[in-house]
Amino acid sequence: MGVALKVQNLRASVGSVEILRGVDLEIPFGQMHALMGPNGSGKSTLCHVLSGHPDFTAEGKAWVDGEEILDLGADQRARLGLVQAFQSPVAVPGVELEEIMQEAAEERGIDPDEADRRIAEASRRFDMGPFLGRSVNDDLSGGEKKRSEIFQISVLSPKAALLDETDSGLDIDMVRTVAAAVEEMRRPDMGVLMITHHSRILSYVIPDRVHVMMGGKIVTSGGPDLAQELEQSGYEGLRKRLGITSAGADTTPKPAFDFFTDHPFSS
Ligand SMILES: Nc1ncnc2c1ncn2[C@@H]1O[C@H](COP(=O)(O)OP(=O)(O)O)[C@@H](O)[C@H]1O
Ligand SMILES: [Mg+2]
Repeated sequence: MGVALKVQNLRASVGSVEILRGVDLEIPFGQMHALMGPNGSGKSTLCHVLSGHPDFTAEGKAWVDGEEILDLGADQRARLGLVQAFQSPVAVPGVELEEIMQEAAEERGIDPDEADRRIAEASRRFDMGPFLGRSVNDDLSGGEKKRSEIFQISVLSPKAALLDETDSGLDIDMVRTVAAAVEEMRRPDMGVLMITHHSRILSYVIPDRVHVMMGGKIVTSGGPDLAQELEQSGYEGLRKRLGITSAGADTTPKPAFDFFTDHPFSS
C-alpha cells in the first residue's frame, strides 16, 4: 500500500513567529511512527497545522493517501481520513460519548449503522462499555481519557491518526494499558504518528520509526534504538552527538549558519 501521511518541507508560523521550519515525514500505511522532542520543539504544532488549525499559516506540502491537504479546511481533511485525537476534549455536560461518536462518524461520512457497529466493536476492544453513556471527558482519569481517545480513533478508522502526548499524565501501569491499546489499534490501512516527549511508552509500543524534533525540525530519525538512546543520554546527549548547541523554537534572527537549515543531519 501507499503512504498514509506525507509531509514535505512544512513550515508554519503564528503571526511573524516561525514554529515549524521545514518538516519532512513519511508514514506508510500499516506503520506507526513516534515523534519525540523536548517541550516547545513544535510537536503539537505539527499536529495542529496538519489538522487545519486556523491559528497557523502553513507553507510546504502534505498529503493523506496521496491527496494534498494543506489547502483544505479542517472538516475536509477529517473527511479525507486525517484524525487528531483530541488532546483535551471539551467536556460537554450531558452529551454522551456514544452520541459524540455518532455525530463525529456522520461528519466523516460514515453511515449510521456502520458507525453503531464500529462503536460496539471498539468499545469491546478497548473496554469502553461503561463510558459510552457518560459525558465526554467528564470525570475521566488520565488513563481513561487516553483510552477514550484511542477508542475514538478506532471508531473513525482514519487513514492517518495523530496521537499527541499519548502518555502524558499517566502512571506506570496506565502507560502499559494505553500502550497495549495503541498496539491493538495498528491496522494495515492506517498510519499512526504517536507523539511523546519521553520514551517510557516506547518500552511497550515498538514504533517502526522514531523521529526527533528540535527547534521546529526533525533533526534525526531512526529505529526503536533511537528511543533507547534518548532514554539513556537524554535530549542533551543527542544534541551533543548531533552537534546542536541550542534547542527549542529559535525566534531570534538567523545567524549566517543556521543549524536547522544547513546541518547535514537535518533532512
Ligand atoms: N498559538 C501559538 N501562538 C504563539 N506561539 C505558539 C502557539 N502555539 C505554539 N507556539 C509556540 O511554538 C513552540 C512549539 O510549541 P508546541 O508545538 O506546543 O511544542 P511541543 O508540542 O513540542 O511541546 C513553542 O515555543 C510555543 O510557545
Ligand atoms: Mg505538545
